[in-house]
Amino acid sequence: MRFRPRSISITSGKGGTGKTTLTANLGIALGALGKDTTILDGDLGMANLAIVLGMHKCELSFLDALTGEAEVKDVIYRNYGIKVVPMGFRFEDAHEVLTKVKRERVEEVIRELLKQTEFLLIDGAAGIQDATI
Ligand SMILES: Nc1ncnc2c1ncn2[C@@H]1O[C@H](COP(=O)(O)OP(=O)(O)OP(=O)(O)O)[C@@H](O)[C@H]1O
Ligand SMILES: [Mg+2]
Repeated sequence: MRFRPRSISITSGKGGTGKTTLTANLGIALGALGKDTTILDGDLGMANLAIVLGMHKCELSFLDALTGEAEVKDVIYRNYGIKVVPMGFRFEDAHEVLTKVKRERVEEVIRELLKQTEFLLIDGAAGIQDATI
């Protein structure tokens, strides 16, 4: 029987408290237990989940799915026995891109990700600003 997917956000108000490290390690541990696991970089401002996993060369990211420039299936990468959805960062138009991201689209993409996994772990950004929530 397929379990209902679970979504777990790893958050904290302060930066540098271990959110990204915990997301990566908990995700890989769940994968090692045979759980269908996806980890998502939800840090719109300063993404680094893919970097800590040595996957910084991913061409497409969650950001591209959020702006509608990529399909959800194209931003899911497989590594370490789990699925990883990296977040992109664009130096040239970072602010402009963030203003294009709509809450409804975030929810839509997350719902799509939940359809193909048992566990979805979300590495959040520090703080309690609107974009983080
Ligand atoms: N349990 C731990 N023990 C010791 N050091 C740790 C632990 N977890 C994380 N660190 C170290 O703390 C630093 C910050 O970790 P990490 O990047 O995971 O935090 P973060 O909460 O994701 O930060 P940010 O808010 O910037 O996204 C890193 O250098 C990491 O290696
Ligand atoms: Mg982090």
